[in-house]
Amino acid sequence: PLVPTAELVRAAVAERRGVAAFNVITLEHAEAIAEGAESAGAPAILQISENAVRFHGGELSAVAAAARAVARTSSAPLALHLDHVVSAGLLRAAEGHGFGSVMFDASKLPYEENVRATADAVRRCHERGIWVEAELGKVGGKEGEPPLDAHTPGVRTDPAEAAAYTAATGVDALAVAVGSSHAMTERTAALDHALIARLRAAVPVPLVLHGSSGVPDGEIRAAVAAGMVKINVGTALNTAFTGAVREFLAGRPEVVDPRKYLGPARTAMAGTVAGFLGLLSAPGRA
Ligand code: G3H
Ligand code: ZN
Repeated sequence: PLVPTAELVRAAVAERRGVAAFNVITLEHAEAIAEGAESAGAPAILQISENAVRFHGGELSAVAAAARAVARTSSAPLALHLDHVVSAGLLRAAEGHGFGSVMFDASKLPYEENVRATADAVRRCHERGIWVEAELGKVGGKEGEPPLDAHTPGVRTDPAEAAAYTAATGVDALAVAVGSSHAMTERTAALDHALIARLRAAVPVPLVLHGSSGVPDGEIRAAVAAGMVKINVGTALNTAFTGAVREFLAGRPEVVDPRKYLGPARTAMAGTVAGFLGLLSAPGRA
């Protein structure tokens, strides 16, 4: 069934475990997330980024309707989230399409402007019952972005600033920069666990890890044990999808029916989803 993101995050916090959010690009991504969640016996969040909306012509309705239909008909609890939103128009469109939550991304703005823009977005979303995540610090790694140096001030999230930011904006969850980076195809990121612990102590709302595709299993388990709650995964699904398509098509020039290779691609993504979901249980529990 389709459930609100706030409900899944609240339950994860109460049970001291993580909840994963996977990025949807194609219908097969949404189906694979549902299949992976069902086989793992875990809830999950289907998230659609502003970039994915742009890929589908800038029109939210078709891709959102597909993800929503998949969520509604799944036996796993699935939520719908709009990810990395920068445009105010898209933010306004969220509610009408069944999104219970959004990530408003003003992380590229200087601190004061980020606070002002985010506080405004939070006020408008809360009036309509939408849960809001925002980012402080810079996770980076998106296409076309310059590489970030962790030692540059403002790249890693500062705990005192994060506490002030949360109070000033009223956000429901905070994405923090603690060593992960977007779009990694190898799982080699090292997280700053001391920083995660300091952020956990300073910030009263759930913390969100972006760029989790590049984070090794053990590091994700440790991050969840230290109090990170929402674990965002995108690229790992695309790596599985594309790898399966390449493998299937290699040496088969006669294949033209997309179902022949989208099937294995979807199965591969479902396996990846189940793998990540298996990392999020509370310490000491199965
Ligand atoms: O918001 C989406 C996530 O941060 C996904 O990042 O594609 O590097 O896993 P990733
Ligand atoms: Zn992200």
